[in-house]
Amino acid sequence: MTRFDPAGPLRGSLRPPADKSISHRAALIAAMAEGETRIEGYLDAADTRSTLDAVAGLGAEIGVVETTVSVPPGVTPPPTPPAALSVRGVGLRGPRPAAIDVGNAGTLLRLLPGWLAGQDGGEWTLDGDDSIRQRPVDRVASPLREMGADLSCRDDRLPPLEIRGARLRGIEYELPVASAQVKSCLLFAGLLAAGETRIVEPLPTRDHSERMLAAAGAAVRRESGAGDNAAADAPPRGGTVVIQPADRLEVDRIVVPADLSSAAFFIVAGLIVPGSELLLEGVGLNPTRTGLLTILERMGGRIEIAPRGEEGGEPIGDLRVFASELRATEIGGAEVPLAIDELPLVALAACFAEGTTTIRDAAELRRKESDRIATVSDALNALGGAVEATADGMVVTGGGGLRGGNVDSHGDHRIAMLGAVAGLASRDGVEVHGMGAAAVSYPGFEADLALLLGRDGG
Ligand code: S3P
Repeated sequence: MTRFDPAGPLRGSLRPPADKSISHRAALIAAMAEGETRIEGYLDAADTRSTLDAVAGLGAEIGVVETTVSVPPGVTPPPTPPAALSVRGVGLRGPRPAAIDVGNAGTLLRLLPGWLAGQDGGEWTLDGDDSIRQRPVDRVASPLREMGADLSCRDDRLPPLEIRGARLRGIEYELPVASAQVKSCLLFAGLLAAGETRIVEPLPTRDHSERMLAAAGAAVRRESGAGDNAAADAPPRGGTVVIQPADRLEVDRIVVPADLSSAAFFIVAGLIVPGSELLLEGVGLNPTRTGLLTILERMGGRIEIAPRGEEGGEPIGDLRVFASELRATEIGGAEVPLAIDELPLVALAACFAEGTTTIRDAAELRRKESDRIATVSDALNALGGAVEATADGMVVTGGGGLRGGNVDSHGDHRIAMLGAVAGLASRDGVEVHGMGAAAVSYPGFEADLALLLGRDGG
């Protein structure tokens, strides 16, 4: 049990840890590539360690190389330069048969089958922890089967997932849910399929895979959507991502920016803890990830964004956050995939905002590391919030702040960190049960929080 008493203000500056989504992709694409790839700033957390273990099991060779961090002018380098990794890939058609433990990593569970399903002749099993065994894999199994893959899973829906490699053919597939994980899985499968693979997205989702695959030499393009030819204020539209089969991938260097989804905890803490003013540096600002910033700005949050160009093919920037009076808002439609992992924090911010905030079109939240509609609404209600869980979102009556109490993380990293931030802004403090789950994406969370609170150490 870890206690977070009312505290603040949050002050100072910090580079949040490396992006989890981009780190998973970096390890996987480096493993698929020929020769050696240097990955700078790879996230060292439980989820991304699972991915390194997985690619090592498939035959990739992982090494650690010391590095000085390259940061754009004006950005403070992190105090201890993180080591860079070297990954010697096995090549697109080279993974060896293995039983893979994905741990808690849903992204690994969904992306890896795309690469393995097209390996004619090999066999693989993917399994993970108790939470992963409740995460659906039919969303990747069914389109892969349409491409000719041979897979089986428990109840035709859940891990363990067994993959027997087969020859694949390109298809056009319309995603039933806006999921970057499913899109990425099919992009990987498309590299090994005969003919082109076309993936139609109902709404834009994070495009890190497209960017990194293109940098590694794959022929991948977006045909339409994402606001093409639309008025500047038109809602973003989905599009079709097209990939051609490839003989080989090669990429010398991948640089991983700081994770906006990790920065998000301090952004919301900075807004709701009175007197706070903090600077978050080198944060990835890919427009398919920045929904939280748009939502919080609409709620009256004062966030100054200083773009700093690109790092590793991804836009980055610094965020200065000031404590602000918040007002309620409505969230739904195209904004949801752009803020999917941050919606729990939107609900927390909404408890401190005047008026009633509605989150809809977000049923996918029920299929994350926990059922986040249930775990977020239960947690915030237990702390004195007024949150109604709906089938596809939450209705939060704000203005009263939070009293405090107990939060169970349910083994979900983002719920653990949400509880901690709630504690700082509460009247009586919050006990978080299962704080250790934070290590899935942010092992240094408590130490970084202590730093921003002006305390030495954790
Ligand atoms: C992720 C995509 C999202 C997100 C997850 C990471 C990714 O999932 O919730 O934490 O790295 O592709 P979906 O694309 O399935 O919504």
